[in-house]
Amino acid sequence: MKHFIHITDLSIEEIQETLERTLLLKKNRTDQNSLLRNQTYGLLFYKRSTRTRVSFEVGIQELGANVLALDSQNTQISRGESIKDTAIVLSRYLHGLVIRSHEHNVLNEFAKHASMPIINGLTDFNHPCQVLTDIFTLLERYDPENVSLSVLKNKKIVFLGDTASNMANSWILASAYLDFELVLAGPKSYEPTDEIIKKLNSDKLIPKHRFTSNPSEAVIDADVLYTDVWVSMGDEGNENEKKAILKPYQVNSSLMKKACPEALFLHCLPAHVGEEVTRSVIEGPQSIIYDQAENRLHTQKSIIAELSRLNLKY
Ligand code: CP
Ligand code: NVA
Repeated sequence: MKHFIHITDLSIEEIQETLERTLLLKKNRTDQNSLLRNQTYGLLFYKRSTRTRVSFEVGIQELGANVLALDSQNTQISRGESIKDTAIVLSRYLHGLVIRSHEHNVLNEFAKHASMPIINGLTDFNHPCQVLTDIFTLLERYDPENVSLSVLKNKKIVFLGDTASNMANSWILASAYLDFELVLAGPKSYEPTDEIIKKLNSDKLIPKHRFTSNPSEAVIDADVLYTDVWVSMGDEGNENEKKAILKPYQVNSSLMKKACPEALFLHCLPAHVGEEVTRSVIEGPQSIIYDQAENRLHTQKSIIAELSRLNLKY
């Protein structure tokens, strides 16, 4: 059974194919509207969500399936039922399951026992649907008719802020796998974790990223500036201290001016304006955040279509 827990779960050819299908699905949302006819997908959330939940719910329905929204609190999971039993039982009813959880191992455990595709809708470790969407959003911007991964090879992407976060991990894995330049700028106390380095090693990937604690140096010649909230879901506790340490990494107009003049600004959202990004940048002409959010819908439909094609043989 093919799942989508990390971007590396699809081959590079499958990713290219997924991006091309995303472009077609964006041009025609009703294309493939009977692909999942008579099927039911579940959405199981342990954390809050706006984009992931709604874009999957709409997208799955647009592919012709029914959707069942579940959450950990209202299922027996909250009373201690094992992931193994939950995965096996839900596989008897459903044809696929999108999960957003805290611990990444919850996803791995579901994937181990489910006989339906499991799709990662974010964990504390990574957010593969988001990073694939982000890549699509950039490629589409560079050439609206031809989304080719090869274009990334000439781009410099800079991630600023909490470089130990799930979004930073997603970019680190993507840069090593798809081979493009990534600079991470953040305080030394939030530098990339051993966990992501372990993942690169286990996938036999050579890291392509560079870490610096100097944001002004990081953004020189940058084609893309990316940031995310400074305090992720489940990471609350030492918020004020963390925000103070991260302050020099705010994406503001003076930092934007140090990048390429045509540099693009991305943010996975939700944003905390005034913290990781200023209003002038997020609402400025270089920001493509709403295309990015919209593209979650098209990209995820394409991911599901790809998994469904790959799983046909099972
Ligand atoms: N970017 C993202 O995953 O947003 P939600 O938390 O609203 O789903
Ligand atoms: N890093 C953020 C991403 C939200 C989409 C979080 O985990 O809360």
